[in-house]
Amino acid sequence: MKNISTIILAAGESKRINSNYSKIFHKLSDLSLIEHVYNTAFKISKNNIYIICNKKNIYQIQQLLPKAKTIIQKKPLGTADAVLCSKKFIPKNKRILILFGDVPLIKSKTIKNLIDKYKPINNFGSLLVFKAKNPFGYGRVITEKNIIKNITEEVEANESIKKIKLCNSGIMFCNHKDLFKNLIKIKNQNIKKEKFITDIFDIAYNQNKAFTYSICDENELLGINTRNDLINLDNKMQKELKNKLIKNGVTILQPDTVRVSYDTKIAKDTIIEPFVVIKKGVTIKKNVTIKSHTIIENCVIGENSVIGPSARIRPYTKIGKKVKIGNFVEIKNSVINDSSAISHLSYIGDSFIGKNVNIGAGTITCNFNGKQKNKTIIKNNVFVGSNVSLIAPITIGSNSTIGAGSVISKNVPPNSLSIERTEQKIIKKRR
Ligand code: UD1
Ligand code: MG
Repeated sequence: MKNISTIILAAGESKRINSNYSKIFHKLSDLSLIEHVYNTAFKISKNNIYIICNKKNIYQIQQLLPKAKTIIQKKPLGTADAVLCSKKFIPKNKRILILFGDVPLIKSKTIKNLIDKYKPINNFGSLLVFKAKNPFGYGRVITEKNIIKNITEEVEANESIKKIKLCNSGIMFCNHKDLFKNLIKIKNQNIKKEKFITDIFDIAYNQNKAFTYSICDENELLGINTRNDLINLDNKMQKELKNKLIKNGVTILQPDTVRVSYDTKIAKDTIIEPFVVIKKGVTIKKNVTIKSHTIIENCVIGENSVIGPSARIRPYTKIGKKVKIGNFVEIKNSVINDSSAISHLSYIGDSFIGKNVNIGAGTITCNFNGKQKNKTIIKNNVFVGSNVSLIAPITIGSNSTIGAGSVISKNVPPNSLSIERTEQKIIKKRR
C-alpha cells in the first residue's frame, strides 16, 4: 500500500517475561515475535518499516532483519516516547501504521481493512480493539458513538473501568501531522512514570478530532507480556496452523500431540502420526507417512515416502520419492534419492545416496575426522550390508555390494563386492 510508514515498537524492557533476552526474540511456532510482526508489516509498507529498539536488542534486530530501519529509544520512557523517537526519520507525507512487537498474530488482511476504513477528513486515526475474555493488563477502551473517548491503562483503572472488556490492541493507523504534533503533549504523570501513547485518545477527543475504531477477533490481537502469554499464544497458533493443514487434505492423528512450524508445507493425503515434531523449513509432498516420534527440520520429503517411527531428519536434507527411512535413523545434510531404503539404526551425514540403494541396519557414515566434515557418495543400486562403517571421504560405485560388518575406507569401483572382515576363528572350548 502506498505512502505508509510502519513503526514497530520493540524497545520495552521485557521485565514481565523474566528472560535474559528481549521478549521480541522469543518464538511462536519457530519464528520470533519480531519476525512475525515484521513479515506482516512488509505486506503493508514493504521497506518503509521502522523498528524502535533499545541499546541491548538493536544489534540482534539488525542481524535478523537487515532491511528494516532501526531507531534507538535510549531509555524505556513509554510507548508515546517510543513512537516520538521516529519523528525525525519518517517522511512527512506518509501515513503512519503503529504495530507492537509483542502483538504478533495480527494478519495483514485485518490491517488492510483498518486502513481502508480510515477516512482522512477530520479524522485523527483509527484503532484496532477487541473484546477480551480476560482483559487483565490491557488498556480499557471507552467509546462514544463511533469514536474513542478515552483509554485507561490497567495500572490507572478503578474497579468500574477494570470491568470493561473492550481492550486496546495498540495497533493504530493515523496521519503524520496529528500524531507527531500531539505526542509531545503527553506527560508521564501516572503510576509507572511512563509516557503512555494511550493518552493520545483523550487529546484527540478534546480537539474534536475523531479517533475511530474497529472491533476484531481477540485471537489476532492478544499481546505477549509473560511466559504464560507466550505459551498460550503458541498453543493458539499451533491449533490454527494444524487446522489449516487438515483443511488442505492432510491427516494429522491426535493433533494435540503434533507440533508444526509457521512455514510447514504439506501436500494432500499425507499422514502425520501422533507425537511428530516438524520444525522450521519443512516441505512434505503428497502421500507421505510420517510415523510417530519423528523429528524433522529444514528438509524436503518426496511423495510416497515413509519416515519413522522415531527417525530424525536434520537440516539440508532432500529425500526423494518412495524412500523408506526407518526407526532410529538420523539423516543430516544429505540427499537420498528415489526408492532407497535406510530402515534401521543408521547415521547418514553429508552424504549423497543414489536411487534404489539399500543401507543395512546399523550402518554409519563416518563423516567427521575430528577436524572436518567429509562426504560419502553412494551411487545407484548399491547394497550396503548391516553394521558397515563408511569412512568419508568415500565413493561407492553403482551396482556394488558391501559385506556386512565391513569398515570401508577406500573407494569402491562399480559392479564389485567389497568386504573387510577378519577371518572367523573357531576355537574349541576347554573342558
Ligand atoms: C500496551 C498498551 C495497552 C494495550 C497493550 C496491548 C500502552 C501504554 N499500553 O500495554 O493499552 O492494551 O499494549 O498489548 O501503550 N515499548 C517501547 N518503549 C517503551 C515501552 C514499550 O518500545 O518505552 C514497546 C514494547 O517493547 C512492546 C510495546 O511497546 O512491544 C508495548 O509495551 P508493553 O510494555 O508490552 O505495554 P503493555 O503493558 O502490554
Ligand atoms: Mg505488551
